[in-house]
Amino acid sequence: MRGKFITFEGGEGAGKSTQIRYLATDLQRRGLEVVVTREPGGSAGAEAVRSVILSGAARDFGAAGEALLFSAARIDHIDQLIEPSLAAGKWVLCDRFADSTRAYQGVLGNLDTRLIQALEHVTLKGLKPDLTLMLDLDPKIGMARADARRGKSEAADRFESEGADFHKALRDVFRDIAAAEPARCVVIDASRTQGLVAADIITAVAKHFKLGDGDVVEEAMS
Ligand code: TYD
Repeated sequence: MRGKFITFEGGEGAGKSTQIRYLATDLQRRGLEVVVTREPGGSAGAEAVRSVILSGAARDFGAAGEALLFSAARIDHIDQLIEPSLAAGKWVLCDRFADSTRAYQGVLGNLDTRLIQALEHVTLKGLKPDLTLMLDLDPKIGMARADARRGKSEAADRFESEGADFHKALRDVFRDIAAAEPARCVVIDASRTQGLVAADIITAVAKHFKLGDGDVVEEAMS
């Protein structure tokens, strides 16, 4: 039985990595095998591309060049980790995926939507998340959280260092994607405490996959 593919999306500091851990624990408690991964990265080749992109070394390539790099990393990640895990029946939880390319490079980078669609076509080869959780948060709060997490000694990465307007626009793009694909996406209010957000996510996942309280019902495995 093939596993399920759940992606987490949202702006900087929305709490995606913390929430992925909570969800992973809940799913494991239900007896499911879970793989937690992230983009860019998740496989050796993709992690190598990650460090190039986030250092800002590829900024001068422009949005199209960066979109190509994110896509190349995604191809390796899907081939090496995501597809084999799903085929083995594991549930894959991924911190960011193709919606981030649509938002950061596509919309904010002013790329032609046909380019993004073509990249998705060759990169994803039909793979689509079964569920995408959009962690929605006022970017002022998100950026403050990201700053606090990073501490004073560490510099902001390639995208954290974009301005307030960029991050405000990003929030709108993720909300637009969710509105356009309501069967795949659930918007989660990430402004609340970690526990409340986690409870909301677990409820949304259980509802989406028709999971029982603590064990897995048949529909989830079909
Ligand atoms: P990361 O440190 O993982 O940030 P976060 O904790 O916010 O997820 O860095 C990933 C950065 O790369 C983040 O700023 C979003 C950006 N990104 C894109 O621009 N396009 C993409 O396709 C992906 C996957 C990420």
